Amino acid sequence: MKTKKYDVLNTETGRLDPTIYSDEEIYKEEMEKIFGRAWLLIGHESLIEKPGDFFHTYMGEQPVILSRDKTGAINAMLNICRHRGARVVRTDDGSCKSFVCPYHAWTYGLDGKLEWVPGEEELYDGTIDRAEMGLKKARVATYAGLIFATWDHDAPSLEDYLGDARWYLDLEFNRSAKGTKAFGPHKWVIPINWKTAVDNCSDWYHVPYSHASAANALTRIMGAPRMTSDVLWKKKGRAAFVNGHQVCFFRLPDDSFDGNPYGMDSTEENHAEAIERLGELRGDGVMLGTHSLFPNTVLGFRIVIPRGPNETEFWHFSHTNAADTPEKQREVALEHAAQNGAGGHFESDDIDNWNQVSQSGKYAGAREIGQYINMGIGNTTTDDVFPGQLSDRFVSEQNHRFFYSRWQEFMNADSWDDIPLDPMKANFEGTASMDG
Ligand code: FES
Ligand code: FE
Repeated sequence: MKTKKYDVLNTETGRLDPTIYSDEEIYKEEMEKIFGRAWLLIGHESLIEKPGDFFHTYMGEQPVILSRDKTGAINAMLNICRHRGARVVRTDDGSCKSFVCPYHAWTYGLDGKLEWVPGEEELYDGTIDRAEMGLKKARVATYAGLIFATWDHDAPSLEDYLGDARWYLDLEFNRSAKGTKAFGPHKWVIPINWKTAVDNCSDWYHVPYSHASAANALTRIMGAPRMTSDVLWKKKGRAAFVNGHQVCFFRLPDDSFDGNPYGMDSTEENHAEAIERLGELRGDGVMLGTHSLFPNTVLGFRIVIPRGPNETEFWHFSHTNAADTPEKQREVALEHAAQNGAGGHFESDDIDNWNQVSQSGKYAGAREIGQYINMGIGNTTTDDVFPGQLSDRFVSEQNHRFFYSRWQEFMNADSWDDIPLDPMKANFEGTASMDG
């Protein structure tokens, strides 16, 4: 057993060492121990609907081609040519018959196999072992149309990795047999450490203050419920924590922010289908709120892509119900973008805060005093109805502590053998499954 290396969070006092936001060596280790091992959200099936479609994405910093091959199978391949390391694909997405490296034209199939090398006989004398020289492939799995991949072939299944968090994720991603459809992404680069955007996903503490003007505007202009401290501190929603993922949820109809008669569905018909697929409690009685998946999925279908200790590329997708009309889908996508897109009212408030938190790790004084994520310490509970470890109230910093505890488990592990998974206990009522 390896000696424990990181001890950055005191779970009794909530003291966190901000060095984890700015240290180059820690960042490099994260790329290997977290982004080299975890299941990472990298795309959506609606982005590569037909054989030949591809979408360029990232696993950590590493460029990845996501493709649908001739058999309809999904492939995630390192976008690095096996010859001299040039990027084979240099565009965001498209459709093609094969991937041709622009440097010397080595040509790969949609599944990454090396198919053709110029001068194979005349220049290489037939010595290239094409079977061994395909693009490096990641392990791929899907959940309700969302595509995940991992570099670690010893990682547990995606189903076990998501664990009981899926009981809650189904509330948004698995309501309809038609699935969801992704729009986007908007992309932007910001001077933050990637972790600050993830731990913020259920930081409702900042909402009445950092987002005061955006929340006021939504209330005054669009009639949205108020998001002031007197409302939020009393709110009944809670958060569940599973394997470093966090999901915030509300009981319907009383706790929800909006008054849609069909909860999360836009029509009575969609609502009836959701109840059939998820059971009465999940289809009609619970609504998903803010959520994050370890390590880098935030608030729905959005991804933070690390670019250095203090630089992050943010990808914002809108996902909508594929059963909705194109008009409704467009309305939902525009609403998502207006709130959390590149110029979204809420997003721009957040970025400067995350930048300040990330920068603090550079200063000796800040490292000496530490940061404190101690709100609600000791108040975690469990429940017979709702799976996972649960917060006892809506506003707390339990998410932050669960996230950094998971970070530490990954960073201190030699392999997946040392990384624990929470046992699955949830009752998945209804017909929805991992496959949609
Ligand atoms: Fe790709 Fe030479 S680097 S063909
Ligand atoms: Fe925010």
